[in-house]
Amino acid sequence: MDIVIFEEVSKTYRMGDVDVAALRDVSFAIPQGAFTSLVGPSGSGKTTALNLIGCLDQPSQGVVTVAGRPISGMGRREGAIFRGQTLGFVFQDFNLLPVLTVFENVEYPLLMIRNVPKSQRKPAVDRVLAAVAMEDQAGKYPSQLSGGQKQRVAIARALVGNPALVLADEPTANLDGNTAHKVVELMKSMRDEFGTTFVFSTHDPRIMDQAEVTIHLEDGRLVPGSDSVKGGPS
Ligand SMILES: Nc1ncnc2c1ncn2[C@@H]1O[C@H](COP(=O)(O)OP(=O)(O)O)[C@@H](O)[C@H]1O
Ligand SMILES: [Mg+2]
Repeated sequence: MDIVIFEEVSKTYRMGDVDVAALRDVSFAIPQGAFTSLVGPSGSGKTTALNLIGCLDQPSQGVVTVAGRPISGMGRREGAIFRGQTLGFVFQDFNLLPVLTVFENVEYPLLMIRNVPKSQRKPAVDRVLAAVAMEDQAGKYPSQLSGGQKQRVAIARALVGNPALVLADEPTANLDGNTAHKVVELMKSMRDEFGTTFVFSTHDPRIMDQAEVTIHLEDGRLVPGSDSVKGGPS
């Protein structure tokens, strides 16, 4: 099954009197469980594509289907519920809340979106913190962590609700090469353990090589032949 389908998708932003075409007639599919990278130079449309997959924006033309549901026509509230149940997000700058501990940061999505009782929250948080090898840092605050540790916490937070799909916009951009490599390895092992589909944008060639499916954008267009499947789960 394909968890993400783009059919002739275009996205145009209006900037004053000018139309900016961020995506132009883009079609691709991402199989469930595929470790997928969205690559291309700055301004090529990567963030726009992730925002559409994340139901944070609507296409100007074409159809985006996520986990079997067309995102067009989803109301604001419906979109929020769908996001909460199906998606996890990992951001470039980690987006951890500084006043919360590691444990509380990871617990946060369970408090905000789902009605998960406390007796279920703790094992869920412990499980994902252990998965990213941060269980012994649970009481620390983000300011006490390295960049790589913060990104591991952000990945744990994205995974805690057991989403089918995790979206990561340049998750390694603020990490050194070695740490970036480890974060990508971690996401891949999370995929193997939980069956989560990861879609991440990057323009780091060392990270791109790790992907099983590569979607290559340039100037808002899909580069032909780029959505190739390189092994991975079937
Ligand atoms: N909210 C917006 N308003 C106007 N133009 C935008 C907006 N978001 C993105 N763009 C434009 O769309 C194009 C693609 O941007 P983006 O998706 O952010 O690319 P990338 O993530 O690959 O750097 C760029 O030309 C950018 O300036
Ligand atoms: Mg971007």
